[in-house]
Amino acid sequence: MSNHKVAAVVLAAGKGTRMFSPYPKVLQEICGKPLLYYTFKTLKEIELEKVYVVIGYEAEKVKDAFKDEQVSWVRQNELKGTADALETTAQFLKDHKGSILVLSGDTPLINPTLLKGLIQVHQNSLKTAATVLTCSLDVAGSYGRIIRDKKGGLKGIVEAEECSEKQKKIKEINSGTYVFDNKVFDALKKVKPNPSNGEYYLPKVIDVFAREGKKVKTLVAENPAECLGVNTTDELNTAAKIMRQRIIDGFQQKGVIITDPENTYIEEEVLIGKETIIYPFTVIHSGVLIGERCQVGPFSHLRKGTVLEDGAGVGNFTETKKTRLGRNSKAKHLSYLGDAIIGADVNIGAGTITANYDGVRKEQTVIEDGASTGSGTVLVAPVRMGRRSKTGAGAVVTKGYNVPEDATVVGIPAKPVSNRRI
Ligand code: UD1
Ligand code: MG
Repeated sequence: MSNHKVAAVVLAAGKGTRMFSPYPKVLQEICGKPLLYYTFKTLKEIELEKVYVVIGYEAEKVKDAFKDEQVSWVRQNELKGTADALETTAQFLKDHKGSILVLSGDTPLINPTLLKGLIQVHQNSLKTAATVLTCSLDVAGSYGRIIRDKKGGLKGIVEAEECSEKQKKIKEINSGTYVFDNKVFDALKKVKPNPSNGEYYLPKVIDVFAREGKKVKTLVAENPAECLGVNTTDELNTAAKIMRQRIIDGFQQKGVIITDPENTYIEEEVLIGKETIIYPFTVIHSGVLIGERCQVGPFSHLRKGTVLEDGAGVGNFTETKKTRLGRNSKAKHLSYLGDAIIGADVNIGAGTITANYDGVRKEQTVIEDGASTGSGTVLVAPVRMGRRSKTGAGAVVTKGYNVPEDATVVGIPAKPVSNRRI
């Protein structure tokens, strides 16, 4: 076992030609976050000395998307393939004493436990030149195929486009995740460019090591989903689906009740307290906080900046954005609540709308504890409803109006009524 810490290199310079999008592939999103976010999240679970990220296509955009990330950015000036991408880190890693974990920025489903296992396999015996993470797939598609010798040893990797008919049938594939040590930089020099496109392929370094009789090992991932590489929109959707399921499983294990996991869409970076029930066809975006014993859905849309305090309820066709709904407050039907601060025990009547945008500015609505709105109320922000105040059905509370505590306002524009029940 080496006492030196592991350095990681994330290859993220490619354009993602097969996505048919000008947007850099590693910034394509699943569950509300870019692909690269998940790689960084996983790497944070592993003890690493440093993380180098190789960027090239739209490098500034990629860097900007991860401003606060503790990583070192390295430029690959010309996108000459994955071997060349790793080569760009030679200047920083050629004297690195520990292992070097290399992974792709397009493999978001890999778990820390598997990466730790891969590092362990590499470090278990001295003098291992490379360890490759592989898995077995029924349809090996565009992945590189693992070529083994008669004794089962790793001989090399053949890219899908170079495969013979026989090699195409091989089910064991290269995940694009490897562990090396700094000798890889000498071996990289021996990788020849692919004759068809002039690119230097990193898997060819395995062939170099094998040819030279160096020890190369594999770890076969039990769950192939972890090795899914995202190259097409179809694969992006598959990755999103698996990630969505993982997110939901995580909540269910913490006591959140999700009645129909297949039809519930919860993004990354959402917090939900226990005993909260999420009904089907609900979409919850990144940056939403939900307390305990809340009820959400069916058909609710909770957008960034929504906070539901304990016991709050949001029902069908209610959309919330940058809105806090206080303890035990309810907005059960057909509402838009944007830029609103809503206190405790408030009842938002069916069809209540916060008109928060006047075409120029977004304005705030404040609804204090115990207030309630009648069906079809429009609150033209900025506006405030005092404690226990009420609006009648169809009221339009106009801009700048403060409904006093305990008052009831009705009509268009809404005006107070006194001593009268509505
Ligand atoms: C790669 C492997 C393949 C493996 C598969 C697993 C090569 C040649 N092939 O294929 O054996 O089965 O991953 O998913 O490596 N990149 C750069 N600079 C470049 C080119 C690519 O940084 O010049 C980055 C990309 O941004 C991407 C990663 O390297 O994150 C892999 O490149 P990609 O084009 O996706 O390779 P695959 O065809 O998927
Ligand atoms: Mg790929």
